[in-house]
Amino acid sequence: MKKAFVTGITGQDGSYLAELLLAKGYEVHGLIRRASTFNTRRIDHLYTDPHEPDKRLFLHYGDLTDGSRLVTLLAAIQPEEVYHLAAQSHVRVSFDEPEYTGDTTGMGTTRLLEAIRMIGLNCRFYQASSSEMFGASPPPQNELTPFYPRSPYGAAKVYGYWMTRNYREAYDLFAVNGILFNHESPRRGETFVTRKITRAVARIKLGLEKRVYLGNLDARRDWGYAPEYVEGMWRMLQHHQPDDYVVATGTSYSVRDFVSLAFQHAGLDWEEHVDYDQRYERPTEVDSLVGDASKAQVELGWKAEVHVPDLVRIMVDADLAALTEED
Ligand SMILES: NC(=O)c1ccc[n+]([C@@H]2O[C@H](COP(=O)([O-])OP(=O)(O)OC[C@H]3O[C@@H](n4cnc5c(N)ncnc54)[C@H](OP(=O)(O)O)[C@@H]3O)[C@@H](O)[C@H]2O)c1
Repeated sequence: MKKAFVTGITGQDGSYLAELLLAKGYEVHGLIRRASTFNTRRIDHLYTDPHEPDKRLFLHYGDLTDGSRLVTLLAAIQPEEVYHLAAQSHVRVSFDEPEYTGDTTGMGTTRLLEAIRMIGLNCRFYQASSSEMFGASPPPQNELTPFYPRSPYGAAKVYGYWMTRNYREAYDLFAVNGILFNHESPRRGETFVTRKITRAVARIKLGLEKRVYLGNLDARRDWGYAPEYVEGMWRMLQHHQPDDYVVATGTSYSVRDFVSLAFQHAGLDWEEHVDYDQRYERPTEVDSLVGDASKAQVELGWKAEVHVPDLVRIMVDADLAALTEED
């Protein structure tokens, strides 16, 4: 049975990836942070009692800031595949916490790569790189587009990207960068703009709230559906050689388009409920991200099927259902 180690297993992508790997018969080991409250909500449905003989999901305490723990864990688990998804992943927050973002999102990648090298682990390594690395480089962006990050988060991801390439070239490690454009789902963190919008739509529809406050509505993004994107990660590690791939839908919508579609799906007029709040603006904005994923399509056979109108429906319906169930 193949063993995978997943950092960030409690996050949006980690939870979908864990589902995918378990369905494919893997034994899955996830890194979780010790917290005073439970942070495993997204993977609770996958959890089985440690006494079950056929248990295949194992969780281990650890942190990206603790390199020696990464060494001892990987030495004990000996995974064939390592998916590095953990990060301080919020762009706006990275302006408030640039040092912490550099330490976890940037240096965390080096600590993990170095742990693999130090123990001589024979594994394949996936780095969760991001379209935010392209920043101010105009669209469409592909694997050859120059990076021009516009946030501490983007800069930290550029560092992680190059460290991953460096370990591939210097130590012959099977290490890949998945340069994923934004991907969303009902499990997206509640402070990310798409989820903030769909949650607000559900709450307004059910009369629990009247208004939602947003920042820049003009930013354009290439939004895809997270469960499809984790399939792309897995395909990269099954390929016959390590390489870097853009994963995107190739379509572009503004935040305003997303807002309008979400309110419309619930039968509401967005202009009656949306207000501007300057605090949600980034000090430096990324105006337009649109990915060209043709390399992933040709070499990995990966193509996005879910586009923004369907994505909006999936997310609004899930938020409405969740609130209705609470009653
Ligand atoms: N979603 C996107 O659109 C997108 C696009 C491109 C790249 N990415 C990158 O892909 C990865 C997954 O994204 P996501 O949307 O699933 O992010 P997410 O929901 O924010 O999940 C982040 C994960 O990282 C963990 N984490 C944060 N700091 C940590 C630390 N110091 N030590 C150990 N674990 C830590 C979190 O644990 P807790 O649950 O304890 O907070 C959580 O499991 C991230 O690296 C993100 O930057 C995401």
